Amino acid sequence: MAQKKRDSWGSRLGIIMAVAGSAIGLGNFLRFPAKAASNGGGAFMIPYFVSLFLLGIPLMWIEWTLGRYGGGFEHGTAPGIFHSIWQKNRFIKYFGVIGIFGPLVIFIYYTYIESWTLAYSFFALTGKYGKLADQASMQSFLSGFQGVSKNQYFNGIGTAYLFFLITFILNIWVIYYGIKGGIEKLCKWAMPLLFIFGLALMIKVVTLGAPDITRPDWNIANGFGFLWNPDFSALKSAKVWLEAAGQIFFTLSVGIGVILTYASYLSKGDDVVLSGLTAASTNEVAEVILGASIIIPAAFVFFGPQEIQSIARSGVFNLGFVTMPLVLNKLPLSALFGFFWFFLLFLAGITSSVSLAQPAVAFMEDEFDITRKKAVTIFGAVCFILCQPAIFFLGRGVVDELDFWGGTFFLVVFATIETILFAWVFGMEQAWDEIHKGADMRVPRVYKFIIKYITPLFLFFILGMWFWQQWIPIILMKNVSTADHTFIQATRIGLLLIFLVLVVLVRIALRRKKALAEQLR
Ligand code: PFF
Repeated sequence: MAQKKRDSWGSRLGIIMAVAGSAIGLGNFLRFPAKAASNGGGAFMIPYFVSLFLLGIPLMWIEWTLGRYGGGFEHGTAPGIFHSIWQKNRFIKYFGVIGIFGPLVIFIYYTYIESWTLAYSFFALTGKYGKLADQASMQSFLSGFQGVSKNQYFNGIGTAYLFFLITFILNIWVIYYGIKGGIEKLCKWAMPLLFIFGLALMIKVVTLGAPDITRPDWNIANGFGFLWNPDFSALKSAKVWLEAAGQIFFTLSVGIGVILTYASYLSKGDDVVLSGLTAASTNEVAEVILGASIIIPAAFVFFGPQEIQSIARSGVFNLGFVTMPLVLNKLPLSALFGFFWFFLLFLAGITSSVSLAQPAVAFMEDEFDITRKKAVTIFGAVCFILCQPAIFFLGRGVVDELDFWGGTFFLVVFATIETILFAWVFGMEQAWDEIHKGADMRVPRVYKFIIKYITPLFLFFILGMWFWQQWIPIILMKNVSTADHTFIQATRIGLLLIFLVLVVLVRIALRRKKALAEQLR
């Protein structure tokens, strides 16, 4: 049987932009400010940076290296890659299922939220929310849009659904054109544009001064102070550490299989050390410089030190879709800046969601040898159906449930498996050689020790804490209202079914590959 050629990246800049595009997303501009502000402000930044250096950067290198290695065997997803590394172990490929399952689960809700940002870009330009001036009306505008409650602003969920369809089709369209022709092309223009919008917003916020002369302490310096003044007592809380580590994984898109897939389209001699570091650093600039300088300081200036506390705790959606449009409405050129804000989020979102789709598509292409066209069609049809519960049962906590499993829990589990495989099964000496193939810079030697001991221990510690503190309440749905129990249970059963289907597919695929290989012998 003739082997078809796998897709590849067009240029080095292209893959760096694509990985940075995956990393820079709604997580940088919405999730990060909300997490930082509600976990002690400046104190959050200490566990955050510790996690960046001990977990994020090592996993970035691990995934780039394992991905490129797997690509050499025509495997672009975790089941095949894990199997290539540990062929003697019959079960390891099933752990790799998480590397397809996790991105798929995130994709299901992420794309829907991304579609709100496209809708709001449009609303900003057309002035649809332009006259709303208080939290209550902006909040009711949002829930009317989501179809969660009926009110004068929207006649049901139709508008949201229309924007979801547009966003979904755009995603499928980009993936359809492949790595070089779709994803790389998109990221090459979307990323610079995103930085321009982000800089414009940041400059606008930083130069706000103290807009209300009767309240001189509601000024921009104090707004930054709210986020950056350390509260060391927060360091004693295990929850702050867990949240910080979770944010690092989520924001860098590591620990879930996406970077494995992207890196599998590299060639053997392509550098991963400097490229990985560049993409990660670009994400950090977008997060701690742009992400931290927009929403929170701006909200502080307009709502003051008291209200900002409750705003920070009111959740990610409120910050992005209620507080921020209210703030922007108070500024000159509000329609334009509103558009900048929401379109920035849209660009950040779409360059991330296409990366979430790629593992499932690559799995079908690589392991079942079907064409990209067919793989994308199957992916589109299946995902379209899977997205529906997230859209219609948003108010029932379905999205939070998906985010917990896909966007938090499995990230840490998968990262642990990858680190152990890399440092202990592959072996640190071989791993070190593999990282440095074609490398444009050396990884500091201390990372040999960190990757072998510190990263896995840190991950075990986080997992241990998690089980100890949260396992029982989560299984018993302690923090879910009783009315929503059925929805949450149904979501969990649905997730389990998806997982089992993937397990079966992995079994069929790898057996098929083995049989083919034996025939060739
Ligand atoms: N990194 C993205 C963000 O910050 O929004 C989200 C994400 C994309 C997470 C891809 C995981 C992933 F694999």
